[in-house]
Amino acid sequence: MSITAAVPPATVTTVTPVGTPPVAAAPVLPRQREEPDRRLAAQVHHDLADVALVGLGYVGLPTALAFHAAGSTVIGLDASAARRSSIADGSVDLLPSDHRRLAEALQDPARFTVSADPGRLQDAGAVIVAVPTPVDDHLQPDLSILRAACRTVVEHAVAGQVIILTSTTYVGSTEDLLVRPLRERGLEVGTDLHVAFSPERIDPGNDRHAHEDVPRVVGGVTEACTYEAMRVLGTYAAKLHPVSSPAAAEMTKLFENTFRAVNIALANEVADITRSLHLDVLEIVEAAATKPYGFMPFYPGPGVGGHCIPCDPHYLLWQLKSLRQHPPVISSAMTAIAARPAQVVERVQQVLSAAGRGMRGSSVTVVGVTYKPDVEDVRESPALEIIDGLRRYGVEVGYHDPLVPVLTCHDGTVLHSQPASRAAEVDLVLLHTAHDCLEPAWVERPSLLLDATYRLPAGPTRWTV
Ligand SMILES: NC(=O)c1ccc[n+]([C@@H]2O[C@H](COP(=O)([O-])OP(=O)(O)OC[C@H]3O[C@@H](n4cnc5c(N)ncnc54)[C@H](O)[C@@H]3O)[C@@H](O)[C@H]2O)c1
Repeated sequence: MSITAAVPPATVTTVTPVGTPPVAAAPVLPRQREEPDRRLAAQVHHDLADVALVGLGYVGLPTALAFHAAGSTVIGLDASAARRSSIADGSVDLLPSDHRRLAEALQDPARFTVSADPGRLQDAGAVIVAVPTPVDDHLQPDLSILRAACRTVVEHAVAGQVIILTSTTYVGSTEDLLVRPLRERGLEVGTDLHVAFSPERIDPGNDRHAHEDVPRVVGGVTEACTYEAMRVLGTYAAKLHPVSSPAAAEMTKLFENTFRAVNIALANEVADITRSLHLDVLEIVEAAATKPYGFMPFYPGPGVGGHCIPCDPHYLLWQLKSLRQHPPVISSAMTAIAARPAQVVERVQQVLSAAGRGMRGSSVTVVGVTYKPDVEDVRESPALEIIDGLRRYGVEVGYHDPLVPVLTCHDGTVLHSQPASRAAEVDLVLLHTAHDCLEPAWVERPSLLLDATYRLPAGPTRWTV
């Protein structure tokens, strides 16, 4: 199926959050809804590919597979040879449903190709950018990867293309990294080609919400850009929500993840408060969650990881600095989040001490080292910082994770996942990430267990952070 085909209005469903006024729902889509710009469409080699994905990571690959499953012809570009080969041999970290899609796509080379050649971008009707946007050691946005990817996209852009930026980034990125450079190349957005920002909301490892069912927010540079981007994304996404500009879409994503960061920081704080008051935090959260309005449950834990919650609010904080604006709630939430792994280390010390042991020479196994359950991703995982902190105290630290056979610590030390037999031998087991596939021995056998997930029932040898 070609994305240049007119989209039936039914597939472009706008959704409006409860309690907010409709956001420009009707007027945002111009007359082109019925009559797309045939002049532009004719200038692209649509017979070669409907869509090209730049970056086939946790976001880009499932998106590429969703397009392929919806009938599109897809080119996936990834700069990493290791990533391309793990896609080709099917060993890449994906949900089972996406693994099935990958197997089907790999059997269909006419409609699914993976390449490192940016020249292939010229073959695509639409280009979607999904490259990482991390922070550096000083928590400043590291835009080098995004800038390089956008430079490549601009360099290879052809008239008639629809370019959609999906990486989480600061407000104004679409304008700075795409619109202006395209104009400098002589391509006017809105007339020669179309550009929009549409943040990705995928939740790797979580198959409760099908990728297709998660609404996509879309903000085009012009109304025609919004329409064209919705037409592309509507190939697989069932619900689309237009906003007035790329900047509005960029800010929407930053707000979503900042909202989560602030609430996770609050949940951690409530866990500390309930411990002081000898109450069970889960009981409190679950009781509060019975309120049918005005409350959303968030759960405490050992900290946050991945490339979203620990990073995205820093894009906002960094941008606000240049406006001399200080948002105290977000700043303190991020400070508290950054301090959480150190608090876990302190708690290990307290629990060992209550059992008559010191840190130096004690053995601790950290169980589950990924930043969340059922994924192999250890980026920004609090486990890494906790392991570092424990080692600094002279603790003999090991780890167990069925999804991470080998772990490289921050100082370069390489550790190997310990077998379940170790559970009964170590002084303390720290449950950090509760994967579905964890062997019960890890929670049944330890003489001391510190639960940083707050999910286990209490017991005489079980403590919570
Ligand atoms: N992972 C998530 O849960 C999630 C969820 C929503 C949004 N996001 C956002 O989506 C974006 C992508 O995140 P991700 O987790 O998929 O990153 P990732 O690190 O998993 O994947 C990015 C891929 O892009 C490739 N790449 C980098 N530069 C490239 C280039 N110039 N050309 C081609 N390929 C290139 C890398 O090799 C890598 O395989 C980020 O902005 C992130 O914040 C991530």
